[in-house]
Amino acid sequence: MTEAASAPRPGPRPQDAADSRAKVHRAETKTKTPVEAKRQGPTLDRIRADERVRTFIRSANQQTGAIGYTEHGERHANTCADVARFILRSLGHEARRCELAAIAAYLHDIGNVVTREKHGQTGALIALGILQDLGFDHEEIATVMGAVANHEEDEGGTPVSAVSAAVILADKSDVHRSRVRNPKSTAFDIHDRVNYAATSAEIKVSRKEKQIALYLTIDTEVAPLMEYFEIFLSRMILCRRAAEFLHCTFALVINDTRLL
Ligand SMILES: [Fe+2]
Ligand SMILES: [Fe+2]
Repeated sequence: MTEAASAPRPGPRPQDAADSRAKVHRAETKTKTPVEAKRQGPTLDRIRADERVRTFIRSANQQTGAIGYTEHGERHANTCADVARFILRSLGHEARRCELAAIAAYLHDIGNVVTREKHGQTGALIALGILQDLGFDHEEIATVMGAVANHEEDEGGTPVSAVSAAVILADKSDVHRSRVRNPKSTAFDIHDRVNYAATSAEIKVSRKEKQIALYLTIDTEVAPLMEYFEIFLSRMILCRRAAEFLHCTFALVINDTRLL
């Protein structure tokens, strides 16, 4: 039995009971101060049910599609929320912080409803209004805003908190053929090819070894590994920085070969 816990994704997760049991137990027994224990705020379910959030994410997805980007809708938001929560829970962070990681990850691309450029920063400001209306306290709003604003490597994003580090890892590891929207494989660009080539992507976290690993299966008939690195090297460097922020190393394993 391996020490590593893993998050199957994307799409609906089968109940990985052995893994979740261990993590839930750790999350609940983590050093929680009385103040933290008392603090109960709105959850991800409340965010998901908000009409503005639903509309903005749907529009953001349509607009990124119109300019040729891969899927950025509820599938991506839900996948990232699951993985961000999973990462912090696996490392033993307290339950409320895990919830904030899920919320920040769910909202991280909402700024695409404005423009693609600087969508991290605009997304943080959109999140501000929504979270205020839903009754989040200022400290939690600040954490979520920092995480949303710092998730993009080409917009100067860098991990600024544990929540932010979890969002980065969740976002950058969501590479999968289901994100490709271009119906014609002959018209694939490099992003389509690399995403289409990825037939599985799985994050594994070993609390004992202090390691966060991304396991990818890439069909090299669709995209050579060089193309993967051409697009993803800067993302993987940001993942390594995020893992280090969480006091872990980062490993990248493609087709059973460890590359980082
Ligand atoms: Fe983004
Ligand atoms: Fe994203």
